[in-house]
Amino acid sequence: MNAVVKGLTDLRDWIDERFPLSEFYHSQLTGYYAPKNFNFWYFFGVLSLLVFVIQILTGIWLVMNYKPDAAMAFGSVEYIMRDVEWGWLIRYMHSTGASAFFIVVYLHMFRGMLYGSYKKPRELLWLLGVVVYLALMGEAFMGYLLPWGQMSFWGAQVITSLFGAVPVIGPDLAEWIRGDYVISDITLNRFFSFHVIALPLLLCGLVGLHLVALRQTGSNNPDGIEIKKNKGPDGKPLDGIPFHPYYTVKDLVGVGVFLILFFAVVFFGPEMGGYFLEHNNFIPANPLVTPEHIAPVWYFTPYYSILRAVPPMFGSQFPGVIAMGLAVVLFFFLPWLDRSVVKSIRYRGVWYKSALAVFVVSFLILGFLGTQPVTDLYTLLARIFSVTYFLFFLAMPWYTSIDKTKPVPERVTH
Ligand code: HEM
Repeated sequence: MNAVVKGLTDLRDWIDERFPLSEFYHSQLTGYYAPKNFNFWYFFGVLSLLVFVIQILTGIWLVMNYKPDAAMAFGSVEYIMRDVEWGWLIRYMHSTGASAFFIVVYLHMFRGMLYGSYKKPRELLWLLGVVVYLALMGEAFMGYLLPWGQMSFWGAQVITSLFGAVPVIGPDLAEWIRGDYVISDITLNRFFSFHVIALPLLLCGLVGLHLVALRQTGSNNPDGIEIKKNKGPDGKPLDGIPFHPYYTVKDLVGVGVFLILFFAVVFFGPEMGGYFLEHNNFIPANPLVTPEHIAPVWYFTPYYSILRAVPPMFGSQFPGVIAMGLAVVLFFFLPWLDRSVVKSIRYRGVWYKSALAVFVVSFLILGFLGTQPVTDLYTLLARIFSVTYFLFFLAMPWYTSIDKTKPVPERVTH
């Protein structure tokens, strides 16, 4: 045994002379102090990382049998599902992973809004997060075309046509994006290239930068206290604990629970009643038959609702497209729209608490409405909740400055 330990120690020393392995382990894990009061909401960063890895690995294996060709794509996915050994598992992990990614990222963003994690000094960390979110949307949108089902085809047709609503350059822009007058084999090839190479590379880089920014500021926490302000005589934050072993072990519990839920869906309900895999996508793409009801996958439906809620102007859908874009872009401005002197919801007043509740309800209802066919009642509701969605952001400088906040304690108390 001693010989094994000595061998490993020698190997470590050999590497350390040539590569800063121990230094990295110490600075990023055992010597990195994180606030001691992380709660449930702090699982979703590491879970986003986990799902990212699942998507990359299952994606690599899917590409081994997938054919990015309009004549073969649908059949190749069926081949993966029926004939490739364990192909069904890999495909269902990837399709469930897409929805899981958005679930954990939405919860991760919501945590940021609960505890004011976007506020000084973490503005850049938040901005990088929003760019990751945009890239993720692009990644999911392009990936959805690849199975070449009816929803893949018509969803992509609807969304690329939206670019056609841009004044003057619109029609040329839409054609340039598709590479054709309609979605075609050319579009499939370029979306494949972006989905498999360009965007995953970009996402890797962006997530890396996100984590570098996180290390620079250190994590926020449910009390919104900057733990670096209270250091002991040893220079270590008094309200911090070493990331390893405390949070590596705690995160493992979160990872375990997540994987149980994830595989429960993969094994017992991968379609999730049509929300994760839409029923119409089991029919091969047919450019001559438009499905009666076209809806994007659930994670895009809040924005789709906003698009449909805005009435066309002079027959153009452009105002709706602008509103939809603005609904996403507004997240970038949160650090500057929020004028509160405190970060965490624990010390905020009734205004911010109510506004955040209205925002969450609006987002969920818009999400539901986006999955439904248009009716007069639903259009009215979509308009009301689009207004409350935008008010959350646009009225924020006002309600956060009049909000009655509570004093934030010096030290972590919970
Ligand atoms: C692939 C997607 C993402 C990954 C892998 C990722 C990863 C992480 C990790 C590992 C952490 C530290 C652990 C934690 O605080 O939970 C973190 C923190 C953070 N992330 Fe992300 N993230 C992603 C997307 C986003 C998005 C979309 C946003 C916002 C729009 C965002 C904003 C933040 C903020 C503000 C923090 C610091 C939170 C705090 O300390 O309270 N992240 N991220």
